[in-house]
Amino acid sequence: MTDPHRQQEDDRSPERSVPRGPAETSLDVGSATLEGKRSRPAKAREPIFELSGVEVAYSGKVAVRDIGFDVAMKEITALIGPSGCGKSTLLRCLNRMNDLVPGATVAGTINYHGQDLYGSTVDPVEVRKRIGMVFQKPNPFPKSIYDNIAFGPRVLGMKGDMDEIVERALRRGALWDEVKDRLKTNAFGMSGGQQQRLCIARTLATDPDVILMDEPCSALDPISTGKIEDLMLELRERYSIVIVTHNMQQAARVSDMTAFFTVQLEEDGHRTGRMVEFDETQTIFTNPNDERTEAYVTGKVG
Ligand SMILES: Nc1ncnc2c1ncn2[C@@H]1O[C@H](COP(=O)(O)OP(=O)(O)O)[C@@H](O)[C@H]1O
Ligand SMILES: [Mg+2]
Repeated sequence: MTDPHRQQEDDRSPERSVPRGPAETSLDVGSATLEGKRSRPAKAREPIFELSGVEVAYSGKVAVRDIGFDVAMKEITALIGPSGCGKSTLLRCLNRMNDLVPGATVAGTINYHGQDLYGSTVDPVEVRKRIGMVFQKPNPFPKSIYDNIAFGPRVLGMKGDMDEIVERALRRGALWDEVKDRLKTNAFGMSGGQQQRLCIARTLATDPDVILMDEPCSALDPISTGKIEDLMLELRERYSIVIVTHNMQQAARVSDMTAFFTVQLEEDGHRTGRMVEFDETQTIFTNPNDERTEAYVTGKVG
């Protein structure tokens, strides 16, 4: 993988940074939530992804560039920013789903457990087993609840009792009690929120260590959204979660770390996504380093 932008990794041009100071208006996300957030010493974090100089293009047109941050185990990392800034594009890089998008190219470095995710010996299918993905719209297969969960383990030839694998995944997905008496019924008979928890449980069935979620609640009502958020906080005990969300309150409520992206108008007239700032969620929402972050999280733009 070539890395044409490595030299720009530490690019902090003066106009990009403003002195740190309290945000003039802070977003009302419930200060109790933010105050209660764990503030961990940097060395206690166990990085699972390390990104540097990441750039993604579609048919040669750069969609996002200069992306560098890391994702730790047992943390929730939120990607926020206006539409088109490349959040979904970047998320898809983390499990090599962009491999499936015609014309998509990825440059820069993405290490996963210290190894180049795009290295020639890495099997993308194995990657997608270890790094699950949940989408905006729940997308269960037109099969029974049981078969939805068993699908991945069967394809992968996972060993063990399938009933146990299915039950464990549904329990971890906070769905078991609601569906244990109707495992053989079609998943389409579930509510939208249940379907989304089924999709999360389906990713858990193949024993991932990371779950990527692209706006997982945007098609759900507030009660279902709350259940998914509670589930995310439970899953954090065991997994690493990266979530794209349009919902700022959601990012503030659930995430430990936040990366803020923006769309920048380039000299050649193209618009590309850039990462503005990556920090503890509490800092991003109450004391961001960059005025563009502050304007976005306080709702002045975006
Ligand atoms: N499959 C694709 N083919 C071509 N361009 C794409 C594709 N997916 C996204 N893009 C472009 O990449 C940019 C970032 O899009 P996206 O990652 O979807 O942003 P976000 O998720 O932040 O809204 C946009 O300009 C979008 O048009
Ligand atoms: Mg998107």
